[in-house]
Amino acid sequence: MPAEAREFVAEGASPATEGPPGVAVSIRGLGHSYGELRTIERLDLEAPAHGVVGLVGPSGCGKSTLLELISGLQEPVAGEVEVGGAGDPRGRLTRCAYMPQRDLLLPWLSAIDNAALALRNRGARRRAARREAGRLFERFGLAGFEGAAPAELSGGMRQRVAFLRTLVAGKPVLALDEPFASLDAITRAEMQEWLAAALRADPRTVVLVTHDVEEALYLSDRVAVLSARPARVVEELQAPSPRAPDRDAAVTDPGFVAVRERAMLALRGGAG
Ligand SMILES: Nc1ncnc2c1ncn2[C@@H]1O[C@H](COP(=O)(O)OP(=O)(O)OP(=O)(O)O)[C@@H](O)[C@H]1O
Ligand SMILES: [Mg+2]
Repeated sequence: MPAEAREFVAEGASPATEGPPGVAVSIRGLGHSYGELRTIERLDLEAPAHGVVGLVGPSGCGKSTLLELISGLQEPVAGEVEVGGAGDPRGRLTRCAYMPQRDLLLPWLSAIDNAALALRNRGARRRAARREAGRLFERFGLAGFEGAAPAELSGGMRQRVAFLRTLVAGKPVLALDEPFASLDAITRAEMQEWLAAALRADPRTVVLVTHDVEEALYLSDRVAVLSARPARVVEELQAPSPRAPDRDAAVTDPGFVAVRERAMLALRGGAG
């Protein structure tokens, strides 16, 4: 486990979650389209309170759209999406912190002010918001870059600032779209272990989209494999050792490798 992860767990100093402890996401018979383009069809998915559900599927199948539906940024044309029992877009929006696929940092704000944005939106004063976000900068390997503009950061650093901003929002549900996509392999594995430790210390309900089957199976309790557009769930797999403290041991275990192979097979089958 990386030192930062140990520190996080030891201190238990995580951003406090708002609202009821643990909120479930429930999707039934979901349909969505952009005009004529059908993106999602008859999709069912459940994420229990404090559960982590991974989503993998072919490029362009509708994964980001699904996260936007969960977060209240899109509306279904059929079926239901509920977050903590709320089906209306506003109710979903207040319960979800959405990390979009592109980092979407505001270019005119410094890294620290970008990270503190969600706290400011909740009414925190600038100094208090900066202090709270700043506590996490070191743990994210961003110490010393608080005052940097997004353009001065590497792609991986921008992604970490965006991820930090999502976490400090203190929402019970995290909708994460490829949170570690532009990180190198080593940093990516470290961030996965870090997130695993963070979720053990401060559980949230998470819907995680990733292209990386191994990442999905390591971080999630369950992984749903989606078909090509219009997306529906073609297979759901139980992860053998969700968020195990020793990632390397977990992902090389024969049981894990067997489930990964099955997921890859379902992914290839659903891609056609
Ligand atoms: N705002 C939009 N208006 C019209 N079509 C859109 C819009 N956003 C996405 N699409 C289309 O809807 C489909 C699903 O897009 P979406 O971004 O949800 O896929 P995805 O699974 O996240 O893809 P990727 O794996 O490449 O991130 C794609 O064909 C895309 O071109
Ligand atoms: Mg996407």
